[in-house]
Amino acid sequence: MPTKQSTAILCLNGPNLNMLGKREPEIYGSQSLADIETATQDLSKQLKVKVEFRQSNHEGELVDWIQGAGGQFAALIVNAGALTHTSVALLDALRLFSGPVVEIHLSNIFRREPFRHRSFISEAADGVICGFGKDSYLLGLRAAVELIKRVK
Ligand code: DQA
Repeated sequence: MPTKQSTAILCLNGPNLNMLGKREPEIYGSQSLADIETATQDLSKQLKVKVEFRQSNHEGELVDWIQGAGGQFAALIVNAGALTHTSVALLDALRLFSGPVVEIHLSNIFRREPFRHRSFISEAADGVICGFGKDSYLLGLRAAVELIKRVK
């Protein structure tokens, strides 16, 4: 069922990612989430898919969005921020989503503090992209589009 709707991708962003640009720029870069969204939307036009960006500091809101994504979005791109390292609730919600899931991080979480090396949500992800700054989003979008093609 390759409808127009099925080529929509939801990009979810967790806690503190609304502070990008101001937040530890030596780690996360100087671009805001809005700047990253603009670059991602530009690429989405080239790839002929629709991307919806959302950000929340609240775990429950992210869970609600993941639960609501079934049937609405063909794939998820998820930067769960710190919830990556703590949230069984996000893992369980992602397991309910039947389409591809791409986990992304701006920073290389494996080159940072040991507590960031463990991702609870990776078990529900088809793949993980980290360490490429804002390009993690662009690579994540390319990966999601490829995975959607394989599913069809
Ligand atoms: C992050 C990495 C997490 O460890 C951190 O808590 C974040 C951002 C990243 O994009 O590099 O908030 O997900």
